[in-house]
Amino acid sequence: MFLVTGATGGIGRKVVRLLRQREQSVRVFVRLNSRYSELEHRGAEIFIGDLLEEKDIQKASRGVRYIISAHGSDSDALSLDYRANIELIDQAKANGVEHFVFISVLGADRGYEDAPVFKAKRAVERYLAASGLNYTILRPSGLASNLLPLVERFRETGLYLLVGDRKNRTSIVSTDDLARIVVDSVTVEGARNQILPVGGPEILLREDIPRIFGRIFAKEPVIINSPLFVIDGLQGALGLFNPQIQKALGTYRTLLANEFFCTKDEIANLEVIFNFQLETLENFLRRYLAV
Ligand SMILES: NC(=O)c1ccc[n+]([C@@H]2O[C@H](COP(=O)([O-])OP(=O)(O)OC[C@H]3O[C@@H](n4cnc5c(N)ncnc54)[C@H](OP(=O)(O)O)[C@@H]3O)[C@@H](O)[C@H]2O)c1
Repeated sequence: MFLVTGATGGIGRKVVRLLRQREQSVRVFVRLNSRYSELEHRGAEIFIGDLLEEKDIQKASRGVRYIISAHGSDSDALSLDYRANIELIDQAKANGVEHFVFISVLGADRGYEDAPVFKAKRAVERYLAASGLNYTILRPSGLASNLLPLVERFRETGLYLLVGDRKNRTSIVSTDDLARIVVDSVTVEGARNQILPVGGPEILLREDIPRIFGRIFAKEPVIINSPLFVIDGLQGALGLFNPQIQKALGTYRTLLANEFFCTKDEIANLEVIFNFQLETLENFLRRYLAV
């Protein structure tokens, strides 16, 4: 039995679909208000709880063989990115779990002081690596599925909003490839007790993304390039009313202000370990848009 947290999220939902396609038994940790009926139809066991509650994590972890932690946190990195994962790891130990897969983030080890999610992920990585459990820590770059709403807007308007440096490098990973890597991590020998950066096969400049959109729809992109200080202004203003949102914006700003890409060697290593070729962003988008 797999336990998957964040099963209704961008990554988790694809992980559960793949596990069910492979006829694996899966317990999904969902909130009462989550959109989980599709997962139930696919035969996942529904566990309703809240990751803010330790006792829910304890109950959900009983009798499971593998844990995949794929939940996000919105603005509460301390409770969800940090505490909930520490509790999941403790419960994995208590229940004799065979393998723990943790979705971290590319750059978790760079010491970004103002990015609570990055700090929480790094602390959890350390805790997991020292836990004695078999583990795989995956550090993805941006997900291709995040771009689907933007590509739809581009289809209608031809516009693309790019905040920050348009020359910053990125390697967007196909969300389907990432899900496959997550699922295979529990069985593939080369993934055991590894920390793996996960990106797409190409290093892109951020301005390449609207160019790819333009190629797909044969439309010249209009790029609206906004400077980063717009975010700084927003962060300052919101901080007056809600310090938690201000901190969450720190993570967002870190994502916009820095480069997040995998080297060619890291991608080649990933393809060797998991024995498949990663798909390009353009291929992913064409598949989803059926163009
Ligand atoms: N998206 C990216 O580009 C990216 C890149 C690198 C790393 N990551 C990491 O990958 C992980 C998954 O990201 P994602 O984009 O797939 O996440 P997402 O789409 O934002 O989904 C978040 C998931 O967490 C669940 N969740 C949030 N609070 C919860 C709570 N209190 N109790 C139970 N479940 C809760 C949500 O449930 P509901 O459906 O109920 O809201 C949802 O299923 C995150 O840890 C993120 O940091 C993401």
